[in-house]
Amino acid sequence: VTNGLDDAFRDDLDATLDQAWLRLTRGAADRRSAMHTVTVATAGAEGPQARTVVLRGADRGARTVRFHTDVRTPKVAELAADPRVSVLAYDPRAKIQLRLSGLAAVHDADVVADAAWAGSAPGSRLCYRAPLPPGTTLDAPGAADPTDALRAADSETGRPNFRAVLVTVARIDWLYLAATGHRRAGFEWDGAAWRGRWLAP
Ligand SMILES: Cc1cc2nc3c(=O)[nH]c(=O)nc-3n(C[C@H](O)[C@H](O)[C@H](O)COP(=O)(O)O)c2cc1C
Repeated sequence: VTNGLDDAFRDDLDATLDQAWLRLTRGAADRRSAMHTVTVATAGAEGPQARTVVLRGADRGARTVRFHTDVRTPKVAELAADPRVSVLAYDPRAKIQLRLSGLAAVHDADVVADAAWAGSAPGSRLCYRAPLPPGTTLDAPGAADPTDALRAADSETGRPNFRAVLVTVARIDWLYLAATGHRRAGFEWDGAAWRGRWLAP
């Protein structure tokens, strides 16, 4: 193994699926993980749209990954029109790519969103009370910089703009680039269990 990774999972489908969820769970929990940020791609009205988001949760039992966003961002309207998403993660040190496909559900005022908001740090909450919606054209580059008044404002004023997005994962495409031979696996949720198979890399 060239990258120092204990890759006993390499030729084992079950262990590979374990690795996939372990890495997602770690990505959500550990801000130093390469998978702490992921790319979420949606079907936009004018074609695919991809953007980086912070991975806030991964739950193997529920088959979900979670991220947070502002209702005023275009991605929320895109998800309402078409909830299909691709979530891409890559750890360059481990040389592991995860490509998840699933359906996104946008949570605004329920227990999922409330718990996510309760767990959000003050710095994260600040974005949600920005008066100008993300993507607004500005007259000057710093015109949307947070003012002292905005920083001092009650963080709950941002709550109406906050959304927790849960993606229920239906497919996982695993790719592991190893000097000893690449491994690629596909996993599909069949309604009761994950069905895995090896794929040509
Ligand atoms: C490192 C990093 C982390 C980000 N995390 C988030 C996030 O957790 N949620 C989010 O909505 N946008 C996040 N963004 C901003 C998005 O990439 C994007 O610019 C913004 O949400 C607008 O997306 P949209 O116009 O496609 O809706 C992050 C950007 C970077 C570079």
